[in-house]
Amino acid sequence: MRTIIEPFRIKVVEPIRLTTLDERRALLAAAGHNLFAIHADDVIVDLLTDSGTSAMSAEQWGAVMRGDESYAGSPSFYRFEAAVRELMPFRHVIPTHQGRAAEAILFSIVGGPGKVIPSNTHFDTTRGNIEATGAEAVDLVVAAAHDPDDLSPFKGNIDLDRLERLLTEQGERVPLVMLTVTNNAGGGQPVSLANIRTAAAIAHRHGKPLIIDGCRFAENAWFIKCREPGQEGRSVKDIVRDMFDAADGMTMSAKKDAFANIGGWLAVNDDTLAAAARNRLILTEGFPTYGGLAGRDLDAIAAGLREIVDEQYLRYRVRTNEYIGEKLTALGVPIVRPVGGHAVFVDARRFLPHIPPLQYPGQSLAVALYEHGGIRACEIGTVMFGLRPDGTEVPAEMDLVRLAMPRRVYTQSHADYVVEVFEEVAKRRSELRGMRIVSQPRQLRHFTARFEPLS
Ligand code: F0G
Repeated sequence: MRTIIEPFRIKVVEPIRLTTLDERRALLAAAGHNLFAIHADDVIVDLLTDSGTSAMSAEQWGAVMRGDESYAGSPSFYRFEAAVRELMPFRHVIPTHQGRAAEAILFSIVGGPGKVIPSNTHFDTTRGNIEATGAEAVDLVVAAAHDPDDLSPFKGNIDLDRLERLLTEQGERVPLVMLTVTNNAGGGQPVSLANIRTAAAIAHRHGKPLIIDGCRFAENAWFIKCREPGQEGRSVKDIVRDMFDAADGMTMSAKKDAFANIGGWLAVNDDTLAAAARNRLILTEGFPTYGGLAGRDLDAIAAGLREIVDEQYLRYRVRTNEYIGEKLTALGVPIVRPVGGHAVFVDARRFLPHIPPLQYPGQSLAVALYEHGGIRACEIGTVMFGLRPDGTEVPAEMDLVRLAMPRRVYTQSHADYVVEVFEEVAKRRSELRGMRIVSQPRQLRHFTARFEPLS
């Protein structure tokens, strides 16, 4: 098989400053060994997130120049709305400045004390916005999702029996059912079309709408095409339409599968919900034809949505992460398999068995990747989830490090470089030490905590 090459060539470049080991050691010490405190200029390969970090195309930059900044009724809005509805045929499309703004608006209307919102796995901003209203966020992902070696094709699926049970037992508390595609918090694993359709049928039988968190909808549709029986001959665009046809609305971060650097939307069919959302939008984001965005952002999203369903792109996109995943596996680095759509998740607890969870093996690995290679990744483990509201600590379910791949930004040689750095870190894994937290806030500590390596 020939190499699956980047299906684009490079017109504008951003230089990467190649730091030295000594420089990075000094930068780490100054940053309290927290990679969120490192300046992006001091990073060689930045895999912190795939959100808002895409390279825009010539078409998108052209669209930016066409952007119209009228306060009301901008043609940019109508191009944006048409591009969304080409893929997701919802009656009302309400722009927001990013995904969490759409979530905040939705849950300010349907949330509240006593309410329960099920999903496969809520992303942390979704959970946060639900809990901020006093409602409860419940994760009902299938059991396979919890086993990093289970090779099931759709580990993002919602457990349909548990969903049915929840709706039967406490249906009056549930305003809607959510599904996150792909399931970011569960390793970027996809949800099958059959699962989306059956979850919708169950929700509808109980009189509840299904709302899809569609951040990585195109990657999810590509996995459906590649893995779901009967879907292989279909176009990604048709699969995307089917995914959203089954649903009653969606939240979206255009910073992911729309190749935009900012933006999002809330889309629904329900007229009453839409009217309430627009009123809330005017209060918090802006007039309904721009949300929190400039007209040029809306045009960049419209162009990005046309490009994201390109199957050559999606083949290359998913292959990039598989490629890194295969090489890490060959090096004996344990990862979550199958590899997800937007990221490779490394199992730091298994990679560094000599570091107990409360000494943060994920943080230790993330720091080592920066120290030895200038790679910035993100701990998703005990640092992120281990602190309880009463101030005590418990190990997270897993200690993972996420290597999230920005879209169209890095080449295969960057991927090879990442693997080489892992090879070096793997050789010295027994030398890696745990970490101690020196200072931390009471909430969302991973962003600002300071660490010290244990001796
Ligand atoms: N839903 C999912 C599944 C997400 O992954 C994110 C963001 C959001 C909602 C919120 O969107 O950032 O535009 O407000 N995920 C980023 C990440 C931050 O790094 O995974 P937003």
